[in-house]
Amino acid sequence: MTALVTGAGGAIGRGVALRLAADGHDLAVVDIDDAAAEETVAMVAPAGGRAIAVRCDLRDESDITAAFAAAERELGPARVLVNNAAVFPSGRFVDVTIAELDDTIRVNQRAYFLCAQHAARSMMSVGGGSIVNIASITWHGGWSEMSPYVATKGAIVSLTRALATELGEHEIRVNAVAPGAFPTAAERAQHPDLEAYETRILESQALKRRGTLEELAAVVSFLAGPESSFVTGQTLNVDGGWIMS
Ligand SMILES: NC(=O)c1ccc[n+]([C@@H]2O[C@H](COP(=O)([O-])OP(=O)(O)OC[C@H]3O[C@@H](n4cnc5c(N)ncnc54)[C@H](O)[C@@H]3O)[C@@H](O)[C@H]2O)c1
Repeated sequence: MTALVTGAGGAIGRGVALRLAADGHDLAVVDIDDAAAEETVAMVAPAGGRAIAVRCDLRDESDITAAFAAAERELGPARVLVNNAAVFPSGRFVDVTIAELDDTIRVNQRAYFLCAQHAARSMMSVGGGSIVNIASITWHGGWSEMSPYVATKGAIVSLTRALATELGEHEIRVNAVAPGAFPTAAERAQHPDLEAYETRILESQALKRRGTLEELAAVVSFLAGPESSFVTGQTLNVDGGWIMS
């Protein structure tokens, strides 16, 4: 069964790709960073199954079309899509530029929409599938100095509900995963005082330890696979009990 994971050269996408490969999926590893995508493919190989790296700038709709065509040609129609790639600009709301805003919307929101469109067409042709959108708990709790990012993550939750409603009759399920804070390069880049940030995380979470990429990937695997066959339209926080509602 073919799974396409965007941003699978990055921390969380790679963790998801490794888990889906172990689950038995053939994988299209989609990223703008082809070296990182190739690294993921090399890591996926021992887990079994086939994997291809697909270089794609998700800001560009013709690249997205080409990525889905390449995946279908090499591996067959997508039965699973994990929309995961994102950018994380930070800065005061009053200083956000149009370029930053547009770029964030293109990668974090528009590309999720377009990839889901391609995936839905493939899934309709094979009788169903599962789309998992990676959101963020910042959607729920707010977060200062990341306004374009937080706004796109809220849009993803709404998109998840809209698509679940519309695509259910085709046996296509659409869910979102909202991660809390996971130890990644993006986190290290954004929080120079990592110790203070970690203290804040542990104060906020019910579980007093950092989550692992494997724990996050396990939830994506659940939503992608048959064990969640009657679950759609949901957003599942994977955050050690940070947000509860
Ligand atoms: N790291 C966390 O703790 C955390 C928390 C909440 C949500 N998330 C979400 O998890 C997802 C993955 O985050 P991550 O921490 O692994 O980030 P990351 O930066 O490690 O990975 C993101 C990947 O997306 C790719 N990408 C960026 N722009 C692209 C484009 N235009 N075209 C194609 N690929 C592009 C990057 O090359 C990178 O490989 C994101 O949706 C993020 O919002 C992460």
